[in-house]
Amino acid sequence: MRIGVLTSGGDCPGLNAVIRSVVHRAVVDHGDEVIGFRDGWKGLLECDYLKLDLDAVGGILARGGTILGSSRVQPSHLRDGVERAKGHVAELGLDAIIPIGGEGTLKAARLMSDSGLPVVGVPKTIDNDIAVTDVTFGFDTAVTVATEALDRLKTTAESHQRVLVVEVMGRHTGWIALHSGMAAGAHAVVVPERPFDIDELTRVVGNRFQAGKRFAIVVAAEGAKPRAGTMEFDEGGKDIYGHERFAGIARQLSIELEERLGKEARPVILGHVQRGGTPTAYDRVLATRFGWHAVEAVHRGEFGKMTALRGTDIEMVSLAEAVQTLKTVPQDRYEEAECVL
Ligand code: F6P
Repeated sequence: MRIGVLTSGGDCPGLNAVIRSVVHRAVVDHGDEVIGFRDGWKGLLECDYLKLDLDAVGGILARGGTILGSSRVQPSHLRDGVERAKGHVAELGLDAIIPIGGEGTLKAARLMSDSGLPVVGVPKTIDNDIAVTDVTFGFDTAVTVATEALDRLKTTAESHQRVLVVEVMGRHTGWIALHSGMAAGAHAVVVPERPFDIDELTRVVGNRFQAGKRFAIVVAAEGAKPRAGTMEFDEGGKDIYGHERFAGIARQLSIELEERLGKEARPVILGHVQRGGTPTAYDRVLATRFGWHAVEAVHRGEFGKMTALRGTDIEMVSLAEAVQTLKTVPQDRYEEAECVL
């Protein structure tokens, strides 16, 4: 068989582990040929690819990023995108495509699959917001990085008796904020799923200082916002791909809390450091399992599906089902963390 792989959308620790696993399983165990498209769907649309053999994937298991490169370009961005991609798949004699990506990539994968292409998806995102899989690889690494940063920030916050508002990634969901906040013992966590009450947040942080504590850490997912009408707030706009370009929750919230509490407050934006660098052992294992199962699905002819972690098993679920909704933080998980509502 001849299989094409691509990585698309925001990168994520563990992508190289999937690529390596696909090549090992396909080339070594099945005798397949594997090619990798450069920079996501862009590589398929422009027929820009490289051969992936054992040498090409040597030593990449622990490496962050993606050896194939990534972009946010999707077939639907071009008028003839789907047709062009189909033409290249036929020209290259591909029996299957394995796109590895998040929400946008999986939607594109579904579109390509609906157009008749043999597609098996692999979900990835540090945000952990893909429905139907319990976890996505990259999330554990991002939470680990954010938790370590929060641990470090506590000591400087305490030295200066400050409020630090720490912004973590999470456009639509607050999984990284919730988990890192719990792991580091933050004093408040705000997430996109539940617009926060600024009076309540001020009270929680203020009570800490009144109780004699010398600092407070508030973790804010980048997409969190206040309840409508409770605080002046700039939500930002959209970038050229229609992705949110936030005006900055940490900056706005730290100014508001400083004014309300009369305590020094500072914004800290963790940003892309959460996505860079080596994946944790957990993410390497999950990514490797996804790669292995994606190749098996190709050999069974199980197209239009993606790999998913269900409990401890890897299962194949339909792309149509996978892209219907995002996996948001449920109320009971939020309450467990004793957050500000
Ligand atoms: O990968 C998803 C994500 O990490 C979001 O949490 C974040 O908003 C976005 O990517 C940032 O993407 P970009 O690298 O395009 O700025």
